[in-house]
Formats: sequence, structure tokens, C-alpha cells
Amino acid sequence: MSAASAPVDVKAALAKRAAEIEAYLADCLQDRDIPQRLLESMEYSLHAGGKRLRPVLVLSFVRLLAGTGTGLGKRVLPFASALELIHTYSLIHDDLPAMDNDDLRRGKPSNHKKFDEATAILAGDGLLTEAFSLMLSCMDEGAVPAERVARAAQAVAMAAGAGGMVGGQALDMEFTAKPGVSFEELRGMHAMKTGALITVACVSGAVLSGAKLTDVHRAREYGCAVGQAFQIADDILDVVGDTATLGKPAGSDERQGKTTYPSLLGLPESRRLAAERAALAVESLEPYTGEEADFLRALARYIVERVN
Ligand code: IPE
Ligand code: IPE
Ligand code: MG
Ligand code: MG
Ligand code: MG
Repeated sequence: MSAASAPVDVKAALAKRAAEIEAYLADCLQDRDIPQRLLESMEYSLHAGGKRLRPVLVLSFVRLLAGTGTGLGKRVLPFASALELIHTYSLIHDDLPAMDNDDLRRGKPSNHKKFDEATAILAGDGLLTEAFSLMLSCMDEGAVPAERVARAAQAVAMAAGAGGMVGGQALDMEFTAKPGVSFEELRGMHAMKTGALITVACVSGAVLSGAKLTDVHRAREYGCAVGQAFQIADDILDVVGDTATLGKPAGSDERQGKTTYPSLLGLPESRRLAAERAALAVESLEPYTGEEADFLRALARYIVERVN
């Protein structure tokens, strides 16, 4: 049986946590010698909004496993924010004509539409690289023990790279307009392109907290389940959502012949599987009580009910 949760206004709680990240992101690219147009392009996408889910997960696992009275939450802000830089880079590249060829992102013209393709590619490269500088800056003045930062950053490198998100994006392209993609292939592609970064957000929060191995495993279980639920919901929203609410073009997957949960299994079964994954995420937090555990449980449920 899963743990009972106190009622949580999850949208308000998410917005409050996202605001903390926004405040840090606001000037995190300043004081670098970044050429003006490149900086504008990086900040254009980074400051366009977004749910800030991945950094929120880092901070939430730090709060869950290290407690709130330690000040660690503030000291890991650069690390948490770095995951948003990586995510934003992945969105910029995902929208490029050579990939999903989408002209709208976060309610604004996609980066390559606002600037140009070369600038969009370089803005992505810049965000990815700056992310590692931000992560490692958590070691400065011993803010977070160096060994924890190094282990967490290594996990992020693996999750974001060719064996994780980038690999998943490569499979996504390979499976586009390809008949006969199996459910196992689709599930594996989701786990890489979206699940890996969401999972490592949870895992790095645990590692940065100095949590014991069983807690790190639970963070991983929660992240894997939430990551799968999240991308199934994204596939469903592409079918049932509208462009204005999504802030990105509805129906893009079908136009391009993407293999998705709805295209392979239909909407009802996709919804059932998303809810099943969310329930699994809730179960993985069974041993934890308190505000943060309740927030994470509510967040898992919200992810499959969201409208954008
Ligand atoms: C969109 O991610 C891309 C996927 C991995 C499905 P989000 O839905 O988290 O996008 P933002 O950050 O809120 O814009
Ligand atoms: C993208 O999946 C996952 C990424 C790693 C960016 P999608 O292509 O479905 O994401 P959206 O729908 O464009 O946000
Ligand atoms: Mg894509
Ligand atoms: Mg896309
Ligand atoms: Mg999508």
C-alpha cells in the first residue's frame, strides 16, 4: 500500500519552487565573455519560461534527504539550475529543421526562427558546456563536498550524453516515419531521451545530499517512473492539447510520423500506462513522510494530469 499523502496544491508548490530557480537563472550567464548575439540567443530560450521540472526535482530530493535546515538547498542551486541549461539546450536542438522542425517553443518562436540555425546550434552548445561549469562551481569554497559534486556531475554527463538523452534523440530520429517500431523500442527510446535527465535530477539531488545507497536507489526508481510518465503524457498532449496552451505546435508528432505511445497503443492505453507509471513513482517514496515527500507524490500524479 502506498503512503497516505496530505493534500498538496501542487501547481502552487511547483510555481514557488520554480521561482527560486528563475531567480538564480536570471543572471547566471552574466560575467562571462559571451559574444552579444550568442548570449541573447542563449538567454532568449532560457528565460522563456518552462516548468523548471528538472531543477525542482534536484532541490526537492535535497530537501527530502538532507532536510531543510542545512542550507544545502541554496548551495546546490547552481547544480540544479545547470540541469535546466541542459534541458533548454535539448529543446533548442530538438526544434531544429533537421530534427522536429518546430517553429514554436515555450510560447515563442523557436530559437532558430528568432535567430538563425547556426546561432541556435551554438546557443545549445554553449548552454550544455556552461552547465558543467555551473555544476562544478558548487565545489567552490567547499560549498558542497567535492566528491559528491564530482559523482553527481559524472552521473549528469552520462545521462545527458550519447548513452542517455542524446542517444534517445538519435533513436527518436531513427524511428521517425519508420514502420514496425516495437513497444520495447519505444519504451527504451523514451527512457533515454526524457527519462535519463529526469532520473538524474532525482539521483543527483540524493548524491549531493550525501544520502545512503538505499535512498539513492529510491530516487532513481521515482525518477525512472516519473520520466516515463512524463514523456507518455507529452505524447498524449501532442494529440489532445492545443498549441496556445502547450506553447509548442500541437499535432507535430503525427505530422512527422513519429512513433509515440498514442500512435502505437491508442489514447486509452497510453493514459492507463502513464497513470500506472505515476502510481509506481508514488510507491517508490513509500518510506518517506513530511511536506517534501507529499510534494513529490503529488508531483508524480500531476505530471500525468497536466495540460502543458
Ligand atoms: C519538453 O519538456 C520536452 C520533453 C522532454 C517532453 P518540458 O515539458 O519539461 O518543457 P518545458 O521546460 O516545461 O518547456
Ligand atoms: C523531446 O521529445 C525530448 C528531448 C530530449 C528534447 P519531444 O520532441 O516530444 O519534445 P517536444 O514535444 O518537442 O517538447
Ligand atoms: Mg523530438
Ligand atoms: Mg520535439
Ligand atoms: Mg513531444
